[in-house]
Amino acid sequence: MNPELRRALDRGLRRVPGMDSATRLLAARLETVRALLARRLDENPLPVPDAVTPSEIPSVAELGPGDRVLAELDQDGFAFAIHPADVAFFNRRSEKMPRLRYRLHIVLHRGYVCVRKRFIGQPRNAPLDAHIFALLGLFFYNEAAALLRLRDLPNVPRIRGIQLTTRTLFLDYVRGRTLQHLVAERGEKVLDIDLAPLGQLFDPDRDRREIEAFAQGGGDAYRGRIEEIVRAMNARGVAPLDVKLGNVLVGEKTGALYWVDFERAALEGTPRYRERLTEHHDLVNRWFGLSLPGDGGA
Ligand SMILES: Nc1ncnc2c1ncn2[C@@H]1O[C@H](COP(=O)(O)OP(=O)(O)O)[C@@H](O)[C@H]1O
Ligand SMILES: [Mg+2]
Repeated sequence: MNPELRRALDRGLRRVPGMDSATRLLAARLETVRALLARRLDENPLPVPDAVTPSEIPSVAELGPGDRVLAELDQDGFAFAIHPADVAFFNRRSEKMPRLRYRLHIVLHRGYVCVRKRFIGQPRNAPLDAHIFALLGLFFYNEAAALLRLRDLPNVPRIRGIQLTTRTLFLDYVRGRTLQHLVAERGEKVLDIDLAPLGQLFDPDRDRREIEAFAQGGGDAYRGRIEEIVRAMNARGVAPLDVKLGNVLVGEKTGALYWVDFERAALEGTPRYRERLTEHHDLVNRWFGLSLPGDGGA
């Protein structure tokens, strides 16, 4: 769209409640559908270096690499295998905390080991308009469009499949730990499984504790690499607003970092991108002690 026309439309539409979200939904949906029509998913780029391959999955020796569910991811991002032969490969803790929102699985999908993210659950305690936009697929299309923009980056799991009818995304499964898991392993109580029984799941103090624990436990070692990933994402017009330790994975094979979770990412070309980019940079600064220029680092 012509940039001037877009700005004029933005100004006019912003006065109508919910219009920003509606415009974002439409833009993300158009971008996703266009990419599918252009057969972008058929390009099959190589998986990221830490992606798991089917031959690494123990049960594949017995059952083959055909499409099936391999494991379930729980609320804290821990995997629980379906086949007994895969338990030692996937399971890192014994107790599973069911996910509060939609289900996440690790699956075999057309010869790739993928995370399957189905956008069917609703955000709890969310305002009515968030429910409505979730129902309309805002978060699904937003994440799909963001992952398509980031498909050439080595530090974002590559998108492998998009099913519009079931609102399902498939992306490379990266075996590893999140930065939040690393903090928890040092004894800090930051996982949902520890905090839910104490009623501290939505306690704002939890973020502060996580941030401090990360900084004290050698956060410096990650800062430069996080900055590089943030700049690369911003250069492609993506500004994640879900910034937290649980959304950065450390790959087990190479130690490389991977950014996940783009449901709420701001996409360049949608309403109030500049404002939301600044919000993203403020969050990156708060969580990782990084100060990025207001120009998006491009
Ligand atoms: N591609 C992936 N490879 C490995 N683990 C993943 C991947 N995507 C997500 N996860 C795990 O699942 C968790 C939840 O996924 P995420 O996309 O962040 O969903 P949510 O919106 O529920 O936070 C992550 O914190 C991470 O532990
Ligand atoms: Mg997340």
